[in-house]
Amino acid sequence: MSSASAEAATDSVAAKPVHFHPGSGRVERLLTRFHQIRDFTNSLCVGLEPEDCVVQSMPDVSPTKWHLAHTTWFFETFILKKFSPGYRPEIPQYAYLFNSYYNAAGDMHQRDLRGLISRPTVREAQRYRASVDSHVGNLLSSADEKLLDEIEPILILGFHHEQQHQELLVTDIKHVFAQNPLYPVFRELKSDSAGAKSVPIHFLDFDETVVAIGHDGRGFAYDNEEPRHRALVHAFLLASRPVTNGEYMAFIEDNGYKRPEFWLSLGWMTVNDQRWQEPLYWTKHDGAWWNFTLSGFRRVNESEPVTHVSYFEADAYANWAGARLPTEFEWERAASDCPIDGNFVEDENFHPSALSTSGDDRRLHRMFGDVWEWTRSAYSPYPGYRAAPGALGEYNGKFMCNQYVLRGGSCATSRTHIRRTYRNFFQPEKRWQFTGIRLARDPQ
Ligand SMILES: [Fe+2]
Repeated sequence: MSSASAEAATDSVAAKPVHFHPGSGRVERLLTRFHQIRDFTNSLCVGLEPEDCVVQSMPDVSPTKWHLAHTTWFFETFILKKFSPGYRPEIPQYAYLFNSYYNAAGDMHQRDLRGLISRPTVREAQRYRASVDSHVGNLLSSADEKLLDEIEPILILGFHHEQQHQELLVTDIKHVFAQNPLYPVFRELKSDSAGAKSVPIHFLDFDETVVAIGHDGRGFAYDNEEPRHRALVHAFLLASRPVTNGEYMAFIEDNGYKRPEFWLSLGWMTVNDQRWQEPLYWTKHDGAWWNFTLSGFRRVNESEPVTHVSYFEADAYANWAGARLPTEFEWERAASDCPIDGNFVEDENFHPSALSTSGDDRRLHRMFGDVWEWTRSAYSPYPGYRAAPGALGEYNGKFMCNQYVLRGGSCATSRTHIRRTYRNFFQPEKRWQFTGIRLARDPQ
């Protein structure tokens, strides 16, 4: 995270001088938020057994226990070790075990071996959380205004970091449970919209214009959303809603996975290597499509947005449909008038909702929540971007290679985490996140 965005995170505070005394509103506000975020992570683990929390089902997946400890390591490393002079870690080796990828913070354990670590136990990881929480509470409560000015931007980065791991915790446990032929249920289905008819798809027109892209500096943003800059966006059309499972089935039934003309070369190689014939978690049973969800194994609902598709599949589907994926600038322009509302992790559906919204079909639906939308934009630095020096500068900048940008958040994202300018990114073959498709077109 750059110092620019770190400063942006404190703008609202810096604008209003606060006369600090212990127990002041600023400390209370930060501590309340800290505990909300930490408690929500713990609430996601309710119902999980220790055995569930230690499995690593593939290199991209981290065990739940690791997420619990790594998010704690973040606060310990970047807040306590830096700003709390008397702080001594109870178990110094955790710095090695729970560092993810911050080279400037020291050596780290190998990512794909996280599932081999049976100690510390889940209970010990939870104790580590409680201990660090208590130290952070003490530090904040005794901090003067100057120290708070230094701590607050990093603390807020820690909140957003933990929210990212909450999403990973959900998608990782889904992948873990999907390996189990007993198909464990993470949460019971809240409402079943099977049979709901989806709203028809429309393409909305957008004129050519120069738009301001990127974060405007009000409130928190990651450094990859900055600097805000002008971009020419040519005229385009954008689909009113994401692609549904029913529409994606038509692609499969039209032999979409077997026709190289729709696929990027690398995508075609991947499809053949991996023998993909359907989205992740789908399986055909007695002539019908079923999918594994966090509420168990159930029939694919044709009205839900298709999810767990790679960039390659999204791009091939778009070609088959006579369309293309939007650029991230087109997406951001279109989203500028859309309310940040939708099906998020707080709704506890842990699955995209059926697209059965009634009302005005000639507007954009579901730009936020449900499924991350693949864009055709490579994840690259904005003009003038520079990663900050030091460990926290490793947060985003070093990943700007061989990945694509996704927009809008998913059913596993926090409502308070997403922004119109938010840039998620994954390699084009990844599909274990809640990733989906929104189509775009060039004007005729
Ligand atoms: Fe992390």
